[in-house]
Amino acid sequence: MKIVVIIPTYNEKENISRMLVTLEKEVFPQIKNHEMSILVADDKSPDGTQDEVKKVAKDYKNIELIEGNKEGLGAAYARAMKYAMNKMGGGAVIELDADFQHDPHDVVRLVAAMDEGYDYVIGSRYVPGGKIPKEWGFYRKFISFYGGSVFGRAVLWLWGIHDVTSGYKLTRTEYLKKVDLDHLYSKYYAYKIHILHDIVKMGAKVKEVPIIFYERQKGSSKIEQKDLFDSFYVVLRLRVMDSEKFIKFLVVGGVGFILNAVILRLGVEYVHWNPSIANLAGAALAIFSNYNFNNLWTFNESKITSLRAYFYKMLQFYLTSAFGVIFIQTGTIFLGDKFLGRKNYFIYFLFGTGLLLIWNFTIYNKIIWRKKSPVA
Ligand code: GDD
Ligand code: MN
Repeated sequence: MKIVVIIPTYNEKENISRMLVTLEKEVFPQIKNHEMSILVADDKSPDGTQDEVKKVAKDYKNIELIEGNKEGLGAAYARAMKYAMNKMGGGAVIELDADFQHDPHDVVRLVAAMDEGYDYVIGSRYVPGGKIPKEWGFYRKFISFYGGSVFGRAVLWLWGIHDVTSGYKLTRTEYLKKVDLDHLYSKYYAYKIHILHDIVKMGAKVKEVPIIFYERQKGSSKIEQKDLFDSFYVVLRLRVMDSEKFIKFLVVGGVGFILNAVILRLGVEYVHWNPSIANLAGAALAIFSNYNFNNLWTFNESKITSLRAYFYKMLQFYLTSAFGVIFIQTGTIFLGDKFLGRKNYFIYFLFGTGLLLIWNFTIYNKIIWRKKSPVA
């Protein structure tokens, strides 16, 4: 596989040559089963970073350089990732800082983890064996650990991941291709939280490999105070987006619920149907309504468009919904009716419907409108 190591640079004249040479001489020779290459994404650094890159690139064919305007780290990465995927044919990309805070030798371990079958490998400071600079004072440690990692994990419900702001990672491009790089919520450092969130939600296999994060020796950090607020903003916006789907699902389900309840009541009160039968009729109508509104609205990003898929998925939807309606919802009504008496049938209906909602949301996400997961 072709693996592209992306190195973003802004005024890294004192670091970049040594970084490139270290990768070429000490790191890449250890990786025998992949074709390794480097993409430097420089934003017109005024210090002559590009001249350094060009000098080293004369000796190695696998180094490319692209240039952009300085808009921020996330903007530079979005541009570089698209280039690595579309122009260089990368099957995986590695994000690596130029300033030796990341040890380039760790690339070997990131690649090895991918070879074990992982899609997204995080160089992690917050798993056993990982470290942050001991020189960091309390405030910096606190901001990085609680402000960055714990806050993001809690709000986005990513407890499985311990370092959500690490800048060192490997991503298989099958997954990266599905991230909307043109509309990341941040052009700055928080871009990485957005990509991580999307890739984890796609169901990629994630592995955290411990890394030691060193103190910068040369040049200076470009991170600013505003990046902290930007990160909070990105995390909260992602949270709202995630809940939006569930809220829409509830609204659609609410409409279905009303249809179901109206048919049930009309059937029982006026036609004198058995409540179980009346519920089946109501549910059949509710399912039809749910299928179409969820397709057009809730899950519109994975909307079913072809006629064939429309009917096939509708059948699937009816079968899984019918299972829920028969065994979960109607089953609840049946048991209530049998053991607790007919008088409270409507209560059994409400309770059964609550259980049905949980079943449905799971099935819609995991089966019906499942985002097609790439085949490895
Ligand atoms: N092209 C480009 N454009 N490169 C940039 C820009 C930019 O606007 N801003 C920063 N870079 C480059 C730097 O030159 C360096 O190679 C790399 O991105 C990381 O920048 P630093 O300024 O050294 O970041 P940091 O050390 O403060 O932050 C690191 O650790 C954070 C976690 O504590 C990075 O790895 C972050 O991504 C990470 O979140
Ligand atoms: Mn740095």
